[in-house]
Amino acid sequence: MTRYSSLFFRNADQLLTLAGPPVPRRGKALSQLGIIPQGGVLTQGAGILRVGRTPALEAEARRLKAEAVDCRGSVVMPGFVDSHTHLVFAGSRVGDYEKRLQGKTYEEIARAGGGIRLSAQRVRQASINSLVRQAEGFLRQFAAHGTTTLEVKTGYGLEVAQELKLLEVIRRLRKTSELELVPTLLAAHALPAEYAGRPAAYIETIIRELIPVAGRKKLAEFIDCFCDRGAFSVEHCRRVLRAGKQQGLIPRLHAEQLAHTGACRLAVAFEAASADHLDNVSAADIRALSRSDVVATLLPGANFHLGLKAYPPARTLIEAGSIVALATDFNPGTSPTLNMQFILSLACSALRMTPAEAIAAATVNGAWALRRAAHLGSLEPGKQADLVVMDVSDYREIPYYVGVNHCRLTVKAGAVVSCP
Ligand code: NIG
Ligand code: FE
Repeated sequence: MTRYSSLFFRNADQLLTLAGPPVPRRGKALSQLGIIPQGGVLTQGAGILRVGRTPALEAEARRLKAEAVDCRGSVVMPGFVDSHTHLVFAGSRVGDYEKRLQGKTYEEIARAGGGIRLSAQRVRQASINSLVRQAEGFLRQFAAHGTTTLEVKTGYGLEVAQELKLLEVIRRLRKTSELELVPTLLAAHALPAEYAGRPAAYIETIIRELIPVAGRKKLAEFIDCFCDRGAFSVEHCRRVLRAGKQQGLIPRLHAEQLAHTGACRLAVAFEAASADHLDNVSAADIRALSRSDVVATLLPGANFHLGLKAYPPARTLIEAGSIVALATDFNPGTSPTLNMQFILSLACSALRMTPAEAIAAATVNGAWALRRAAHLGSLEPGKQADLVVMDVSDYREIPYYVGVNHCRLTVKAGAVVSCP
């Protein structure tokens, strides 16, 4: 068992607590960071004991013999909650990348045998150990960039045995990683070549042979589908989500990325945890999202890497009152970045979010998207001690100095997990 002691983070130029009522942040509340100057955080075991001005915490820190961490010149904030990643894949897809740079589109490359199916071929040839090893390397990088919790999807198996293999990889990673990994079954990611022209048959196979196992053995917590042009229809996704829900898996959805299909409305109808991408949402979708508790997760890393000019309508979503979250979408095809600080820069420069809105979307609203806001996403007594010390004295400098890793220290559940 890990033994925790007490840590005392002292004298942060700005402590971003993100404290607030226990509800997701919408509209104006998204820019409230709950900043404490000369801030201090006192941890005990895996949790946060006290948060406040440093002088007010000194006596208790002495009593606990807490180990002090000098945070002068730094911003202390909650660890990033990256609520959308495809962490487990084999090798990369640099070949697809180069084809795109020569003018082919993502969908053309996928139709010609690249894309998700190419990653699936590589996964088929890879051993569990090699998949675990590659993912562990990435996890060290996630921690080094300030992420303390991340969702992890399957999706490069595209057959029952291979998807189970990916679930096993995730199970092993959850046991060994110091970060918190939240597993999602994304079996309906692309139609396997063997099922060409027969999507219903693939959907049936997943529903009969995979979802019940994932549910019974608790190998996944969420169920996701790629509901889009060239992927799966709303009808097929509805069946998958329904089957998942029956097995205790919580729905979430890749929605309205490449085309408008009605995926967003499906997510709202299922009271999904989140609807992700949302590049092509309609005004009616935005109204429906805003009245719901479905988190609108924006993934600008994908737009950036695909070289798109258009980005999802973040401002309209925020002003309408939707719960906006930001995530990396870390994957080998469209968003090979695991750096949430870079996502903050994109959120500001491309989505026109303010630095404050971007930080709340990447922490507390990410925790809502993963249904973990009761213990993650903000720095408040009683919550888990997941925090990062950033080497800047004003939080706005995190997105402003673009492409730089500002993270000095990452703490997960009261333990230092990265000290880049
Ligand atoms: O979120 N949209 C579907 N899935 C990924 C891309 C996966 C891939 O190309 O490997 C995404 O962008
Ligand atoms: Fe994705």
